[in-house]
Amino acid sequence: MSNEEPNDTAPLAHGPESDAPKRVRVWDPLVRIFHWSLVAGFATAFIVEDDLLGIHVWAGYLVLALISVRLVWGLIGTRHARFSDFVRSPGAVLGYLRAVVHLRAPRYLGHNPAGGAMIVLLLISVAATGISGLALYGAEEFAGPLAGMMRGLPPVLGDVLEESHEVFAYVTLGLILIHVVGVLVSSLLHRENLIGSMISGYKRAEIQ
Ligand code: HEM
Ligand code: HEM
Repeated sequence: MSNEEPNDTAPLAHGPESDAPKRVRVWDPLVRIFHWSLVAGFATAFIVEDDLLGIHVWAGYLVLALISVRLVWGLIGTRHARFSDFVRSPGAVLGYLRAVVHLRAPRYLGHNPAGGAMIVLLLISVAATGISGLALYGAEEFAGPLAGMMRGLPPVLGDVLEESHEVFAYVTLGLILIHVVGVLVSSLLHRENLIGSMISGYKRAEIQ
């Protein structure tokens, strides 16, 4: 069962009169480009670490720019891209997780309440990783937009920044692992390919 009335439906392949399942456009191009660019930017920054600091920093800037655009899109974007469409109360998130455990979780066209909560956590954690990176870059390399602000920072605080940046990066990695497990579990429960939907933008329209 879905909580939503599908709109913007499109016949799958055989014309409007066909019995083929209808598809509905859920993710707009901005959300999809945002998602896969974020994956690429985060993975690049994480993998090269400070061995290739130039690439690391530019991948980090990309990630921060993407997050900024997504925050604005969460306010003014298309229906399922808006925070108001997927940010739910903690009670609703827990209720949804209980339903998952009992294999009775309803299907959503947009993000389900647990997915929505994870997205908020991911956005915060990725942003904290990037911002702590900016501060560290200013403090250690005397470079980047925060260089002026970080000048004269006691070395001990530089160490704290370095530790914080690393901890944020690993906390984000942990969240990403849970995120991907959530995507796979939800895909299995509702027999649909959520990863494919984040590529094509479409989901099955029918209510189950
Ligand atoms: C958002 C994605 C980012 C991820 C996943 C990430 C991850 C990491 C990791 C894992 C390290 C190695 C930590 C260590 O071993 O000490 C590191 C180091 C570093 N990062 Fe990032 N980072 C990101 C963004 C940034 C940004 C935006 C900047 C600066 C503009 C930055 C600047 C640095 C610097 C200067 C170091 C070297 C720290 C040292 O001296 O060891 N990072 N980052
Ligand atoms: C290869 C690994 C990944 C896969 C397969 C994946 C898959 C997905 C899928 C299928 C969705 C839509 C979920 C739904 O239908 O409700 C989604 C959303 C999202 N994912 Fe991932 N993801 C991956 C990695 C990441 C990473 C690395 C990040 C963050 C650095 C991330 C952040 C997000 C965010 C913020 C959303 C919400 C998208 C939006 O509404 O704009 N994902 N992901």
